Amino acid sequence: MTVSLKDQVVLVVGASSGIGRATAVMMAREGAKVMASARRNERLLEVKAKMAAEGLVFEVFAADATDVSQMNRLAEATRQKLGTVNILVYAAGTNTPDRSMLRLRPDIWDGIVLTNLNSAYYITQAVLPAMREVRNGHLIYISSISGHTPDISGAAYQAAKRGLIGLSHAIRVEEKENGIRTTVICPGLVDTELLDKRPVKPTPEMRAQALLPEDVAEAILACARLPPRAVIPELTIVGSAL
Ligand SMILES: NC(=O)c1ccc[n+]([C@@H]2O[C@H](COP(=O)([O-])OP(=O)(O)OC[C@H]3O[C@@H](n4cnc5c(N)ncnc54)[C@H](OP(=O)(O)O)[C@@H]3O)[C@@H](O)[C@H]2O)c1
Repeated sequence: MTVSLKDQVVLVVGASSGIGRATAVMMAREGAKVMASARRNERLLEVKAKMAAEGLVFEVFAADATDVSQMNRLAEATRQKLGTVNILVYAAGTNTPDRSMLRLRPDIWDGIVLTNLNSAYYITQAVLPAMREVRNGHLIYISSISGHTPDISGAAYQAAKRGLIGLSHAIRVEEKENGIRTTVICPGLVDTELLDKRPVKPTPEMRAQALLPEDVAEAILACARLPPRAVIPELTIVGSAL
């Protein structure tokens, strides 16, 4: 039996576009109380207006995930407006056209690892204490197939995405005794704005075969619907034709 998402408090970081946005929308349509966060406030307000028109509970909070104090404020605002976070989805991420070792520089490396890995820890440490108190919580991180299969996405991106897989598994092993579960999702190519950051853009044919953000969101919801006794520690999802 799956668990209903109705009235569950879901915090999505990276909710202004792509996978995070699709997840936030789908969660709200399932009856969850959603807090959507990212840096682009106008994008968040656009989704909020759409959700409000459907009569759904959908709050937004503009914040930079790379800033620890902003993540602490986001966790507190979510608790005050909606209650203790039941499900955190960390879908923020980025890459750079300067990904090859020939073009990578230390400041670019730092930025990629900060957004894709360190910041996942920042929001995690902000929501964990309240989850421990209620002995319930599901932390869902969006890594990438690049996190376990070598490719040309660049050393910084792959190192960060591998790191995120490690973070997710480490927290699960440590926090399971507190009723907290973690899942790390590793998507293949998804047709989102992130692809515009590639040095060589995927062809229209490749984009047409890619996953849609809604496909990954469906996988996230499937993991979130499992009863507390069950968890999918790691899940890979790819376009069936790629
Ligand atoms: N697209 C793919 O092929 C693919 C494949 C595997 C894994 N992934 C992973 O999936 C995740 C979602 O990416 P996507 O494909 O959906 O791309 P996307 O549409 O570009 O979404 C990225 C999201 O991250 C947010 N973000 C970036 N930096 C942030 C920061 N400093 N603080 C807060 N939010 C930040 C962006 O919002 P703001 O800019 O408004 O802050 C946006 O909402 C990423 O981790 C990506 O690495 C993507």
